[in-house]
Amino acid sequence: MNNLWIRPATAEDAETITELTDAAFGTPEEAQIITQLAKDGDGLASLVAHNDREILGHIQFFKIWIDGADIACGLGPVSARPDVQKRGIGAGLIKLGLTLMEGAGRTHCFLLGHKEYYPRFGFTSDLAAQFGGPWSGPNFMAIELNETGPKSGVLTYPAAFGA
Ligand SMILES: CC(C)(COP(=O)(O)OP(=O)(O)OC[C@H]1O[C@@H](n2cnc3c(N)ncnc32)[C@H](O)[C@@H]1OP(=O)(O)O)[C@@H](O)C(=O)NCCC(=O)NCCS
Repeated sequence: MNNLWIRPATAEDAETITELTDAAFGTPEEAQIITQLAKDGDGLASLVAHNDREILGHIQFFKIWIDGADIACGLGPVSARPDVQKRGIGAGLIKLGLTLMEGAGRTHCFLLGHKEYYPRFGFTSDLAAQFGGPWSGPNFMAIELNETGPKSGVLTYPAAFGA
């Protein structure tokens, strides 16, 4: 998509992010997670994609602890506004976000999502299966961002996930 920019979200973006996330998912739970992560200080990057006029997409990254160490991250929710989906907004947010998380030294990124979509970014359920956590199965995926991290372990998610 032309004229698409990605930048860190600010406090002024919160309402738009909620509206966008509610519209993309059709339920309020995902936006509530974003709000709670911020309140609890468990968010990492929160990025918005926008054109010259308005915000069209959002992605959230958050802390995940491996065996009690705050070294990994989780991805989600990620949303593209329904009227502009399938134009690369989600992919742009995911690629830049993963680059930022890698640069920040996060060892892995975990997510629960569409198994047809995330493998194109390098996520696999085989890697996620090495880690014990609140989720499992083909939709629970992971990517290694830094090779120095543990190869297995137990994951702790932020309280915002109620897991
Ligand atoms: C998932 C989402 C963030 C992807 O963003 P996007 O900008 O629409 O997607 P992109 O343009 O980067 O990529 C398009 C590809 O994603 C695929 N895709 C989008 N939604 C998908 C879904 N629900 N399941 C499987 N694949 C999906 C498209 O089929 C397309 O595949 P193709 O490249 O093989 O044709 C966006 O569709 C969205 O907000 N969906 C609703 C909320 C949601 O489900 N979020 C993710 C939860 S895991």
